[in-house]
Amino acid sequence: MTDLRSLVRAAAGTLREAGVASPDVDAVELAAHVLAVDTPEVRRLMIVGGRLPHAFEESYAAVLAERIRRVPLQHLTGRAHFHRLTLHVGPGVFVPRPETEVLVDLALAEVDRRCESEPSGIRLVDLCSGSGAIALAIKEERPEVAVRALELSTDAIAWAAANRDRLGLDVELAQGDATRPAFADWAGTVDVVTVNPPYIPVGAVPVDPEVRDHDPELALYGGSEDGLAIPLRVAAAAATLLRPGGLLLMEHADSQGQSLPARLSAAGWADAEDHADLAGRPRVTSARRS
Ligand SMILES: C[S@@+](CC[C@H](N)C(=O)[O-])C[C@H]1O[C@@H](n2cnc3c(N)ncnc32)[C@H](O)[C@@H]1O
Repeated sequence: MTDLRSLVRAAAGTLREAGVASPDVDAVELAAHVLAVDTPEVRRLMIVGGRLPHAFEESYAAVLAERIRRVPLQHLTGRAHFHRLTLHVGPGVFVPRPETEVLVDLALAEVDRRCESEPSGIRLVDLCSGSGAIALAIKEERPEVAVRALELSTDAIAWAAANRDRLGLDVELAQGDATRPAFADWAGTVDVVTVNPPYIPVGAVPVDPEVRDHDPELALYGGSEDGLAIPLRVAAAAATLLRPGGLLLMEHADSQGQSLPARLSAAGWADAEDHADLAGRPRVTSARRS
């Protein structure tokens, strides 16, 4: 029988040849999934050796074959790690990305600033919520904030509701169109609106099969050649929610780091500025309702 270290190393090599971006991580994560243990345990087993379960090789080969076909890792494991949460994801919902964690951190910083002057009653709305990643990560970090989330897709909102219930986080979810005013009972009272909208320019089809073939189209395309039609409509709806001085935090594509702040300023938003992600790429625009 082949040992785990050799199997994982061989798998990483095969994934690399198939063009997978993070072959070593994926090989370990898939082994962890098949063995039903966490990744530190896989790394430990790779060092100490030992007997593998009877069907391991066959099951590992089966999930590797799927990954080689570029089915997203998170669809195979059913899990996506985001901020300090593990979310359940699969077909029908956008897989949350590490770069979106910058938006969460900016929102938490604003909540903390706001808390100093107004220690209770802080309200936050997450639009285009997908799996609930942003809303749930913020609620987990700051349980005192009242958080609501809006999502259009029936499939996605089912994932968000399941994540919320499993994690036991008190976030109010609603199904609806974020380009239209929502949560009328909170109009003009919200402190922070977060949104990672669909923003890919129409016609700019993503190269990675994981994105192109597996993320829902509704989650990807921004509705115009510059990708900003839907984001700007969502920003206009967000303005109806925010109190004067309230903060909008909107994720965008690398190419929109100048155009989105400029378009928001032109639409009457104050203090529009852009923020980079951990890789140094323009990623989130913040702006205040004037
Ligand atoms: C890029 S994904 C972001 C999902 C999640 N916020 C995250 O960061 O992982 C965009 C999400 O917006 C949703 N969406 C697209 N158009 C929408 C609309 N008009 N109203 C509400 N949600 C919308 C999609 O279904 C998708 O879940």
